[in-house]
Amino acid sequence: MKGLVLAGGTGSRLRPLTYTGAKQLIPVGNRPILFYAIDALVEAGIDDIAVIVGDTADEVRRALGDGQKFGARLTYVAQSAPLGLAHAVKSARDFLADEPFLMFLGDNLLRGGLSGLAKRFRSGAYAASILLTEVSDPRQFGVAVLDGDRVVKLMEKPQEPPSRWALVGAYCFSPAIHQAIAGLKPSWRGEYEITDAIQQLIDWGMAVDAARVEGWWKDTGRPEDVLDANRLILEDLQERLQGQIDEESQVSGRVVIEPGAQVLRSVVRGPVTIASGALVEDSYVGPYTSIGQDVRILRTEIENSVVLAESVIQDVDVRIDQSLIGRGVTVMGRQRRPRALGLVLGDQSRVEL
Ligand code: G1P
Repeated sequence: MKGLVLAGGTGSRLRPLTYTGAKQLIPVGNRPILFYAIDALVEAGIDDIAVIVGDTADEVRRALGDGQKFGARLTYVAQSAPLGLAHAVKSARDFLADEPFLMFLGDNLLRGGLSGLAKRFRSGAYAASILLTEVSDPRQFGVAVLDGDRVVKLMEKPQEPPSRWALVGAYCFSPAIHQAIAGLKPSWRGEYEITDAIQQLIDWGMAVDAARVEGWWKDTGRPEDVLDANRLILEDLQERLQGQIDEESQVSGRVVIEPGAQVLRSVVRGPVTIASGALVEDSYVGPYTSIGQDVRILRTEIENSVVLAESVIQDVDVRIDQSLIGRGVTVMGRQRRPRALGLVLGDQSRVEL
């Protein structure tokens, strides 16, 4: 079975971070979200993987390379425009040839991985196996109607959902999907919907199997989702203290301090991860925080937050909480009079005071 990972899209709900980078490369637990997707495929026994890329192709390629570090072989496939999931499959038609494949959205995270889904698909004569979870508001998802483990009907973002079973962005397909895609018309949102193609398989009388999510699933579309995903990933953190911690610091709970990071005269309460080259000085870093490479946290308190590489946060006199801070950002308290705010913010930034 081959793999298909989607790493295009504009990431509009994660602006301004996505003005300069791919949404799939935003880190949680100090690793890009996309890395967990590749790991999940490899763990499910799939190592021949195509990555669908759009405007951020160069950055995605730089981050993943040829796939060797994941134990995978990666092929990059350009999608000419973000015209939907079925269009992405069509773009990869040559790569996929006539083999079955597993498609996964590169901005989704699954605690239970993809092995269960792949195993179900391989064990039966299905045209497709799709992964579902029950959600409280299914209107923003593809929604499935089930008869036991059989999918009998699918709808994309229905106003009146017929069930609470939402599609979570992991699908196994037999090559029959290509014929179904060939006959698609664009939906109301102008996209070629994979949901409609799967419905076509059902209409042709083919078997579509429903797998259920084990553990949690997180779509990282919005800043609050990234913070949630970071929290969920850090729940599984294995302690590793390899950086420098001076005698005046207190480090407790599950904490990762990478080689080359320094913690001086500070309190760190896990789960926390601090990347190489980072400096935490005279500060407090509280639970569920990821501090990126070469970040400097000076005389500041921070928790429940994600700070991307090379940012500097210093002398802030209220605790920073639930914050997602991009690359190379400077946040500093002003010591001189007047004690006013001085802001230089990019387009669509958000500040809560
Ligand atoms: C896509 C699919 C939808 C699925 C969702 C999961 O939606 O079209 O069926 O439920 O992913 O994240 P989109 O993210 O394009 O709105």
